[in-house]
Amino acid sequence: MPHTVSIVGAGRVGRTLGKRLRESGWRLGAVVTRSLSTARAAVRAIGAGEPHSALNCQSMESDLILLTLTENALPEVAEKLAALGRDECRGKIVLHTSGVLDRTVLAPLAKQGASTGSLHPMQTFGGRAMPSLDGVVFGIEGDAKARRMAHRLARELGGVSVRIDGTRKPAYHAAAALVSGHALGLVEAAAAILMDIGFTRRGAVRALLHLMRQMLDNEERLGPQAAWTGPIARGDYEAVAKHIAALRDYPREFSESYAALAVLSGRVLSKEPSATLKQLESVLNTSTGGQK
Ligand SMILES: NC(=O)c1ccc[n+]([C@@H]2O[C@H](COP(=O)([O-])OP(=O)(O)OC[C@H]3O[C@@H](n4cnc5c(N)ncnc54)[C@H](OP(=O)(O)O)[C@@H]3O)[C@@H](O)[C@H]2O)c1
Repeated sequence: MPHTVSIVGAGRVGRTLGKRLRESGWRLGAVVTRSLSTARAAVRAIGAGEPHSALNCQSMESDLILLTLTENALPEVAEKLAALGRDECRGKIVLHTSGVLDRTVLAPLAKQGASTGSLHPMQTFGGRAMPSLDGVVFGIEGDAKARRMAHRLARELGGVSVRIDGTRKPAYHAAAALVSGHALGLVEAAAAILMDIGFTRRGAVRALLHLMRQMLDNEERLGPQAAWTGPIARGDYEAVAKHIAALRDYPREFSESYAALAVLSGRVLSKEPSATLKQLESVLNTSTGGQK
């Protein structure tokens, strides 16, 4: 008999996981959001489930309860579910999908006898499109029963599970944020510079994504040393100084971020980090002032 799953917080992540689980044979129970219209929309996107505009006893009726809510709502929702579920909690598995929090946020449910853990897809879910989960790494942690379920879910969703120490989740999530949200900030800042010198937005984004894709391909195929190009890799610190001078025409975060990333690249990519950092320090120390 297939298992049942409730989705509490059916936004971008909840809809995608719900739909993929339905496709792999799970039965959908309650689909909970904060209004009936968003709950109905989520049920349509998932293709099954019972829409609810608030937490209620039905939320805890499934074998598995996936809490795909924003982090700040998790403590209150865990408290409410534990109060609603009471004895129903025993034997249930509750997993959340936060990257930064571990299972301790679900302590009220664990106290009532539920198995608790987290299952974080290292994937970005933006807008309405549901991204592929094939090959996606799911960071998992929790008690033994919750981990077994998280491992099974990751596999059924087409991904791979990696066990993480719950106390290291902030570091785990910082790594993901560096290459996802923060890298997007870099693309937008670089696009703004290109647009300032005459590119159209479309042309700027196309040029930068082309460059980035090849860099990512080189990293994957050749490894970081061979993939590293640009002035710091060549030891051309005059070019670095010219970059910093040019970036003074932009808000100060542009040159500050450039400087911080130059140092980071020197630290993690250079074969001789201390020599590279010393050179960078002298260039960066002489290139300050006159910011917007
Ligand atoms: N987005 C990503 O790329 C990504 C990737 C990996 C992990 N995650 C994690 O997954 C979780 C969900 O992220 P998301 O991007 O899917 O968020 P989201 O799109 O903002 O969706 C959040 C959902 O939770 C519902 N909700 C909020 N408070 C609620 C409450 N008290 N009771 C019931 N439902 C409530 C919202 O209802 P309404 O629809 O009615 O507003 C919405 O459906 C977060 O912990 C996030 O860190 C996100």
